[in-house]
Amino acid sequence: MCGIVGYSSLKTNAVDVLLQGLATLEYRGYDSSGIAVFDNDQLNIIKSKGKVSLLKEKVLKHHLHASNGIAHTRWATHGEPNEINAHPHHQGSVTLVHNGIIENYHELSLQLMQEGYQFHTQTDSEVACACIDAAYQQTKDPLAALQAAQTQLKGSYAFAILFDEYPEDVYAMRFDSPLILAQDDTASYLASDIPALLPYTKQYVVLEQHEIAHLHKAAIHLYDAHGNEKEPSFQTTTMDVQAIQKNGYAHFMLKEIHEEPQAIKDTLHAFIHDGIHSNLERPFDYARYEQIMIVACGSAYYAGMIAKELIESEARMHVQVEVASEFRYRNPLLDERTLVILISQSGETADTLAALKLAKEKKIDTLAVVNVIGSSLAREAAFVAYTMAKAEIAVATTKAYAAQVALLSCLALKFALLHGNMTKTRKEQIITQLHQLPDLLEEMLEKDDWSESAHRLADHEHIFFIGRGLDHALCMEGSLKLKEISYIHSEAYAAGELKHGTISLIEQGTPVIAIANEAALFDKTISNIREVKARGAQVILICRQDFHVHKELFDHLITTPPLDRMVQTILTVLPLQMIAYQTALLRGCEIDKPRNLAKSVTVE
Ligand code: F6R
Repeated sequence: MCGIVGYSSLKTNAVDVLLQGLATLEYRGYDSSGIAVFDNDQLNIIKSKGKVSLLKEKVLKHHLHASNGIAHTRWATHGEPNEINAHPHHQGSVTLVHNGIIENYHELSLQLMQEGYQFHTQTDSEVACACIDAAYQQTKDPLAALQAAQTQLKGSYAFAILFDEYPEDVYAMRFDSPLILAQDDTASYLASDIPALLPYTKQYVVLEQHEIAHLHKAAIHLYDAHGNEKEPSFQTTTMDVQAIQKNGYAHFMLKEIHEEPQAIKDTLHAFIHDGIHSNLERPFDYARYEQIMIVACGSAYYAGMIAKELIESEARMHVQVEVASEFRYRNPLLDERTLVILISQSGETADTLAALKLAKEKKIDTLAVVNVIGSSLAREAAFVAYTMAKAEIAVATTKAYAAQVALLSCLALKFALLHGNMTKTRKEQIITQLHQLPDLLEEMLEKDDWSESAHRLADHEHIFFIGRGLDHALCMEGSLKLKEISYIHSEAYAAGELKHGTISLIEQGTPVIAIANEAALFDKTISNIREVKARGAQVILICRQDFHVHKELFDHLITTPPLDRMVQTILTVLPLQMIAYQTALLRGCEIDKPRNLAKSVTVE
């Protein structure tokens, strides 16, 4: 959610580095962008509505020679996405870019207007800029000004800041929105996320809550909230530069779907060999918990729905699953025998982090299932299990979701072995099948079972997904994927629920994607398919090769290899992702950066 880049160097290549960084971070927001650099001590701010490529065209016309600056790609929260509201903002001697939301911006703006500040944009960020400037004018000391401003600003922020009188320096501070720092022999860098730094270094420092960073050429100085200098502590990322390149694929989404077999292999390997990491002094103990509360957003929530069904049915434990934005404002019933599982690809989703905070306040054990190593969720949860999907650039999640489902299925298996009554034979069969999964996924990717489905869907505006049990949870994800990248409206229904109202929308030719992989529910789902077929629906049926369905009940059939239900969903998600991808392709959509969306939702 908004991408920030900052750079201070001995060389005069700031414009190139900043634009390159923005292009890499564009998945975080792309409705407008901007850059601020000093050329011969002269501040230049250039902004543009739309994609970073438009900003680049504009900036390059100015032939700037700058050794430091800041840049931003925006996902609008306050104020419409236009050039005026684009960052950087400037007030007095201060220029800044911001990721987050300043909650008390209205009160602050009234106070600052009384002091003579005028606001030209509709953003909370411009108010933060004035707030820092007001503090700076008292002392002319950037560090003191930032410390003072932190006591006034409420909400979440990651700022990169320039002061007119310090044209060789870049400052940064953050609270509840991520920022990382790095350096090499000639420069220091700051960014919202690791991919922007990969062309220069693999070593980075996480800026902690309320810390302030001062970048001066190749040096980084770090201060805690009280102004005490502290040593930066460097970490090394395992991500490599290949992750931020398409490597011959037309889109990152397609590349990432093709990386699914590896992501699942690595996730299973890490879970089986390293288990669950502990941030406490005690190890994770499966036997300690009687009930589970799963909290997440979007696709991660749908992965949680699969986990709920598997843990509840196979381990016979109470499991609830809830969206984080609801959970965080309720007063949920949790006790010391509850484990709260938070699922997140980015590990920075604001609502999921707030849910974690709530569980911690209630002194409940938390387990983060997270993809980004060292992310806020991974650092703050009591226990962490990493999905090993590596960097995911396309805004719509694919391989990270599949890795979440794989990891949660293993977790369900662990609980099932402890509390359930699974036979040794079934356990061994599941483990064998988990190991076979990457090859089975590769085989599925080699076939093209999805083009026909995509052609059937591309001209429609309303589509239904139906399924029961685990298949219903998968339908939720399939429907979300299709909506977000193809802009076709779709609804996912528990197959038996459609006749309670929504079936009235089925007419001649309405596409219905039905999943019928749940053996115990197969006949029931087939009855529901009959109901929609009788009303004229064209049915795309996804089901196991060994299930036999009368030809008259479907218009197109996609089969999956037959697996135990603990493993089947991990495989069945692939056709859903490919159908969404191909359909969006036929409709000419902007697949990697769908409208109105951003990869990491770090605001509420
Ligand atoms: C959909 C998608 C989103 C995310 C959701 C949670 O394709 O990517 O629905 O799943 O915003 O994000 P994380 O997993 O980063 O917490």
